[in-house]
Amino acid sequence: MLRSGAAPHARTGSPSSVSILKVARIGHPVVRASARDLASDELHSPEIQRLIDDMKETMDEYEGVGLAAPQVHRSLRLAVIEVQASDERTEQAVPFTVLANPVLTRLGTEILTGWEGCLSIPDLRGLVPRSARVRLEALDREGRPYTVEAEGFFARVIQHECDHLDGRVYLDRMEDMRSLSFFKEFRTYAAPDPDEA
Ligand code: NI
Repeated sequence: MLRSGAAPHARTGSPSSVSILKVARIGHPVVRASARDLASDELHSPEIQRLIDDMKETMDEYEGVGLAAPQVHRSLRLAVIEVQASDERTEQAVPFTVLANPVLTRLGTEILTGWEGCLSIPDLRGLVPRSARVRLEALDREGRPYTVEAEGFFARVIQHECDHLDGRVYLDRMEDMRSLSFFKEFRTYAAPDPDEA
């Protein structure tokens, strides 16, 4: 089912319904592998266009704010991000964004620490230091290059998703594992509304 707000050009010649994909958890080698670049003709293929639609559906289903292709068993440099304005952690909504072959540049030296979760590490949250500002250069789903300078929560999600493409998860970025919490305890003792990426 195509949700309202999804791109009108969402599908190109694939079967009409989208699928919720199985999410790989840590321990599965695909989560720790370095993903490969997409070729431009590959990005335009019905298979990859369908994968993008399925990744959006999967992210929505599990209430994530981002999802990387290795998390759905595809070792490709491809990720999707979408943040609702209602998300308590964000300063602003981020519309559905496709990151193909992304290149991340950290800007400045400011580091912010915030809570992260991950669909590949169910039921846990931890405090993760990240660069406050980043530049993202990537291709959109039509293969058009774009550049975004992001800060705050959007910058955090970009860094989290780009890490997935290099086989890294947020646990690797934590400096103090003592904040690591199960969801229920996190809600009780730590903080606000958590989404996963
Ligand atoms: Ni994640």
